Amino acid sequence: MTDDRLLTSSITNDDEVSELKLRPHYISEYIGQNDVKSHMRIYIEAARKREEPLDHALLYGPPGLGKTTLAAIIANEMGSNLRTTSGPAISHTGDLAAMLTKLVPGDVLFIDEIHRLSPAVEEILYPAMEDYKLDIIIGKGPAAKSIRIDLPPFTLVGATTRLGLLTSPLRDRFGIKEQLQFYAPEDLVEIIIRSAGIFGANIDSEGAYEIARRSRGTPRIANRLLRRIRDYAQIKGDGFIDCATASAGLEMLDVDSLGLDMTDRRILTAMIEKFGGRPVGIDTLAAATNEDASTIEDVYEPYLLQLGFIARTPRGRIVLNKGYEHLGYTPPEK
Ligand code: ADE
Repeated sequence: MTDDRLLTSSITNDDEVSELKLRPHYISEYIGQNDVKSHMRIYIEAARKREEPLDHALLYGPPGLGKTTLAAIIANEMGSNLRTTSGPAISHTGDLAAMLTKLVPGDVLFIDEIHRLSPAVEEILYPAMEDYKLDIIIGKGPAAKSIRIDLPPFTLVGATTRLGLLTSPLRDRFGIKEQLQFYAPEDLVEIIIRSAGIFGANIDSEGAYEIARRSRGTPRIANRLLRRIRDYAQIKGDGFIDCATASAGLEMLDVDSLGLDMTDRRILTAMIEKFGGRPVGIDTLAAATNEDASTIEDVYEPYLLQLGFIARTPRGRIVLNKGYEHLGYTPPEK
């Protein structure tokens, strides 16, 4: 595998290109996540004053909340380079070794989906994180020799949607652990207005609020909906996004009043109709809805849990009364 593939994420469409343009570069431009920001400001300032690299940082939380953006901000604020890769992209220990030996002092190495590293690759990471050492085995069998080489001091920033899938030795090697939360609608309004300013969309605060409250607390979704509503306003109206235009456009996109889309509704409906609200296991639910189990767990479930529409029990997922009511069903008698 070439370094190019390891180090650069491929950009596949216009929306992803414009997503990159929307990313804030400094903490001061990053909206929301106030706890995370105030912690990171302190750690970054302290490390800078000591002229040391920042401690390794683990960022976790549902997709689209800004983990990658935050990694880039950490590198900028430290005045360092960001090197980016992901768990699934590092298939061999040699891939990681190549990347580590190319780092310069202070570099930030970002590993997205870090829960998907293979056990062999993880083994390489432990001494690299702890002592800035790389252990390599040369040769095979009885003649094999292990040599240890020094690495430059660096910061590993890992991101994961699933903290529970990280092994504990890996988790324990991060000195900084920060959980990203769903954004409040007020924060998303600010993000939407900022994004609209960057790509020249005309919107008022009511229009932004309508998109914000239907974006599942997620900036990536808010920015995607903004782009689609901008298209809708341009063709069906005069280009201006007010509350009525936003609402009509979101209706067309099948995004409901709380931001649930067809897949969310399909998942809830299956739990109610096929399983009568009884606890259902994730694999059974995946088969019943034709969705990937990990997509349900990573993408759909966190927001339904946050809304209080479903709950996880030791025997499986159940639908709660609010979930029944939102879809127009009468909750079962207790
Ligand atoms: N774009 C996406 N996420 C953002 C955030 N948290 N702040 C500002 N702009 C963003």
